[in-house]
Amino acid sequence: MNNKIIIINGPNLNLLGEREQSQYGTITFDKLKENCLIKSKELGLNIEFTQSNVEGEIVNLIQDSRKNFDGIIINAAAFTHTSVAIRDALSVFKKPIIEIHISNIYKREEFRHKSLISDIVTGGIFGLGSDGYILAIISMQKLLKNEN
Ligand code: DQA
Repeated sequence: MNNKIIIINGPNLNLLGEREQSQYGTITFDKLKENCLIKSKELGLNIEFTQSNVEGEIVNLIQDSRKNFDGIIINAAAFTHTSVAIRDALSVFKKPIIEIHISNIYKREEFRHKSLISDIVTGGIFGLGSDGYILAIISMQKLLKNEN
């Protein structure tokens, strides 16, 4: 059954609710996780919700996902704009990948306009707040059922 997905969150996303509320809203990381778990359960998906501030740990998570998961939803946060290592790891994952950003990175500082992963992922969602995670879960379920 194609229903195991991993949600990978990059640096500082553990501080949601506390950091830059004008960009990321007031939702806490724990509440976001809870919302994602509820939605996934409703859709019959089995999800693991992870976060790391460490680039190499994210690379390891992506590598391990090849065996353990059917899809990846990733908010690589600041590493989106800098990490060739995360891009290379994602390139090896031959199943659906959805890139997500809470804020609209194209409306922000110029250094955020470049994503090193957008051209290798299946699709992306940005600027829709934390709801973007829920939309990503819905899209991932369709991708896994080949309904999109
Ligand atoms: C972010 C956007 C990134 O530019 C930033 O470094 C983040 C969060 C977002 O979700 O909007 O940490 O990925």
